[in-house]
Amino acid sequence: MEKLYEGKAKIVYPGPETGTFRVFYKDDATAFNGQKKAQIGGKGVVNNKVSSELFRYLESHGIPTHFIRELSEREMLVKQVEIVPLEVIVRNRTAGTFSKRYGVEEGIVLKYPLVEFSLKNDALGDPLIYDDAALGLELVNGAELARIKELALRINTLLKEFFAERNLELIDFKLEFGRALTPGPSPKGERGKILLADEISPDTMRLWEFGTGKKMDKDRFRRDLGGVEEAYQEVLRRVIGGTA
Ligand SMILES: Nc1ncnc2c1ncn2[C@@H]1O[C@H](COP(=O)(O)OP(=O)(O)OP(=O)(O)O)[C@@H](O)[C@H]1O
Ligand SMILES: [Mg+2]
Repeated sequence: MEKLYEGKAKIVYPGPETGTFRVFYKDDATAFNGQKKAQIGGKGVVNNKVSSELFRYLESHGIPTHFIRELSEREMLVKQVEIVPLEVIVRNRTAGTFSKRYGVEEGIVLKYPLVEFSLKNDALGDPLIYDDAALGLELVNGAELARIKELALRINTLLKEFFAERNLELIDFKLEFGRALTPGPSPKGERGKILLADEISPDTMRLWEFGTGKKMDKDRFRRDLGGVEEAYQEVLRRVIGGTA
């Protein structure tokens, strides 16, 4: 089957019906904008299963997503969307690039959850972008931007609760949104509707274990902390099992 797109973590193929994509999750891992590369054994399976479970959970709580169904251990079927070229980051505690950028230690509880945008452009290193620039460049319109922020904060509330039940604290995460292409059943149709897309996995979140503070996400790979595969498997176990 011909590839439509091969990214750093996933391969996108045409789906069985027009307007659908089959997404294959690879074990390939990259960090620091592609400078560090390796494989994490079993990561593709974990990320496909974790993402599928989280999309189902979010859908059941009223969040519109691109997810249709799981096709296999490493593949999901999704609705094709027109990706909004913004990485939408939600932060509950300081960490990573936020701490570096503002010269603050990691782990400070933020007064309220922050929604941050960066431009999806690897060549530029996904630079931080402010609302007026995203609007002025017509990457999104005002209604879409407001909707994306609203959804991002609702998703944060839902995911924080989901992971807390599994003894994991959601520190921050990255989302991608898109515009629906297929007309829906309603009179107005679904076209243009903002849907949560891409993936939600230990590659795209920071999860710290309550009590121990142990990092259970891609930071184990970025920072050579060891036990990378084990941490991914443990997150999957808790996501599926429902408890720690
Ligand atoms: N429902 C969807 N419809 C269209 N494109 C999608 C959908 N969900 C995810 N994508 C896109 O598919 C690609 C998935 O591949 P992957 O995550 O490996 O990319 P990447 O290396 O992170 O690169 P980039 O996101 O910068 O293109 C991404 O470009 C993502 O934006
Ligand atoms: Mg990606």
